[in-house]
Amino acid sequence: MASRYKEVYAGWKANPEGFWADAAKAIDWFKPADKVFDGAQGPYGRWFAGAETNTCYNAVDRHVKNGRADQTAIIYDSPITGTKGKLSYQELLDRVNAMSAVLADNGIAKGDRVIVYMPMIPDALVSMLACARLGAIHSVVFGGFASRELATRIDDAQPKAIIAASCGIEPNRVIAYKPLIDEAIEFSAHKPANVFVIQRAQKPAELKAPRDIDLLAAMDAAKGREVACVPVAATDPLYILYTSGTTGQPKGVVRDNGGHMVALAWSMENLYGIKPGEVFWAASDVGWVVGHSYICYGPLVFGGTTIVFEGKPVGTPDPGTFWRIISEYGVSAFFTAPTALRAIKKDDPNGDFIKKYDISCLRTLFLAGERADPDTVQWAETKVGVPVVDHWWQTETGWAIAGNPVGLGILPVKHGSPTVAMPGYDVQVVDDAGHPVGAGTLGNVVVKLPLPPSCLPTLWNADKRFHSSYLDEFPGYYKTADAGLIDDDGYLFIMARTDDIINVAGHRLSTGGMEEVLASHPDVAECAVIGIHDEMKGQSPCGFVVLKAGVTKSHEQIEKELIGLVREKIGPVAAFKLAVTVDRLPKTRSGKILRGTMQKIADNQPWNMPATIDDPGILDEIEQAIRAKGIGV
Ligand code: COA
Ligand code: AMP
Repeated sequence: MASRYKEVYAGWKANPEGFWADAAKAIDWFKPADKVFDGAQGPYGRWFAGAETNTCYNAVDRHVKNGRADQTAIIYDSPITGTKGKLSYQELLDRVNAMSAVLADNGIAKGDRVIVYMPMIPDALVSMLACARLGAIHSVVFGGFASRELATRIDDAQPKAIIAASCGIEPNRVIAYKPLIDEAIEFSAHKPANVFVIQRAQKPAELKAPRDIDLLAAMDAAKGREVACVPVAATDPLYILYTSGTTGQPKGVVRDNGGHMVALAWSMENLYGIKPGEVFWAASDVGWVVGHSYICYGPLVFGGTTIVFEGKPVGTPDPGTFWRIISEYGVSAFFTAPTALRAIKKDDPNGDFIKKYDISCLRTLFLAGERADPDTVQWAETKVGVPVVDHWWQTETGWAIAGNPVGLGILPVKHGSPTVAMPGYDVQVVDDAGHPVGAGTLGNVVVKLPLPPSCLPTLWNADKRFHSSYLDEFPGYYKTADAGLIDDDGYLFIMARTDDIINVAGHRLSTGGMEEVLASHPDVAECAVIGIHDEMKGQSPCGFVVLKAGVTKSHEQIEKELIGLVREKIGPVAAFKLAVTVDRLPKTRSGKILRGTMQKIADNQPWNMPATIDDPGILDEIEQAIRAKGIGV
């Protein structure tokens, strides 16, 4: 089939409002929009101004009304606990109703914030949907973050309540969540009124009345109650999702109700090539944007079946888990991160575990979260035997900026490229002064304003930071903070971040945030954290520290303490395992640390002596210190 992409993209460009008004027909509105796009509202305009809707209604109720009551909405598969289960749309509605009733009884109402701190269990989705039903704004925090990170988010979002499970389960340990939450609430200035806890058999939590509430028991008591979906403005926030910025203070990305659903519904059909009723599986976590968009809202708003998977690509129990699930549940489209495939490839290079399962149901494998390296893509193409589609997006956008629109007819794949801009995005590459660069030239990847539906309208309570982070540097454009190029065929290549964000196993982390932690150690005078190449995780953080004069502890001891400190303050997900003590850090004459050069040295890449370096000899010292740790040797 010839791809309709060019015609569809041109159609959007000729009439953006008409395009999105048409896409909006996939959503049930309580009140239609006064304006499809209102350029006068918000920092750069708002989508579907004046419209009223409810995201939970669209994701659950309407499907029950329209004949999908018995269709499976959520499949739960947890190789880590040996549990499996299914919820039909009717059962999902009943659970969401019960949880909404409990939340409402405890004063949660439209506009209130609720933090969700959950492992990959179906009630994580139920929590999000129950908040959406009441018009409350959820903020899911990834389970791998430590209590201080949770505290930062509590203080920023000022939640009325926290919904949590008593524990999360990693292959090597059970993580008690409740003590982490208690500690976070101790650290935070804002104190949520309630903590609703889902008790898990692996580690039930101690509950302190009246603040802590046993959620499952309360839901049992509320069984059978119906709670109406609260009409919200399309422009009201559905959720806040915190993501790494350039400092330790994360950015609260705001997602609205209306535009979000419209873009997701469009993407399910046209980008992922899915039909309502089919099984779509994103093997991510609800703590990340992929989990929000494509474990929870996208498949459900579209009337599909989603999978909540509690496990890892390898080791739970083997590298065949993904293929087992695809085969067992008839997955049509599968979405994962390249790092997960690299982990599988390492344990099963010949794809022997793939051959054990009939995965003929699978049409396409989608990759995102980090650059899809051609080796991994080629391996997957050969071993899995379906098109492997890289697509590029960010927490900020909520759906793909660029991808290969399978539903419109797949375009030829170029390895290393997430293919082409999706309708809604006018993607350009500019130099540092904001001038367009020619085809094939590397530069700053920017998107001409306005951003399409689903993209962040602003940051939570931080319009000024929104402007300074994204809009000020290239007036009229959104700065993606990714560097890349567009080739002669209009294919985009995303090469690296232009800020100090690094991507570790598909997780977005701030080196600035880690530097703040290292600098807080009493023996550290100066520090710099860079992302160095990692075969499996893509990048891993490496911290360089200069110690204060007169420190008597051994370097080894201090480095151990630093590794422990990052784990304690940011969390295990930071995967900070490498600290290197050096006498000095390389700097420009104006005092800027040459992190880029250090990274090239660590990765054994060619590098030029920076003209502005203060003392070239320091780079030799850095190289020796890095190699002494076995990096790049
Ligand atoms: N709760 C608590 N701890 C968590 C956690 C969670 N939800 N998720 C990860 N961690 C911990 C891990 O246990 C590990 O701890 P350790 O240092 O004690 O071993 C640490 O955080 C680092 O985790 P991770 O970076 O995930 O490494 P890993 O070795 O456990 O697994 C992969 C590697 C590649 C298998 C895994 O990262 C993966 O599946 N990545 C895909 C990511 C993804 O889907 N991203 C979303 C974008 S699509
Ligand atoms: P996150 O906000 O966690 O989704 O991370 C977004 C960042 O991950 C982007 O700005 C990119 O740097 C990187 N990224 C995500 N997907 C891709 C991709 N397909 N190719 C290259 N980089 C990607």
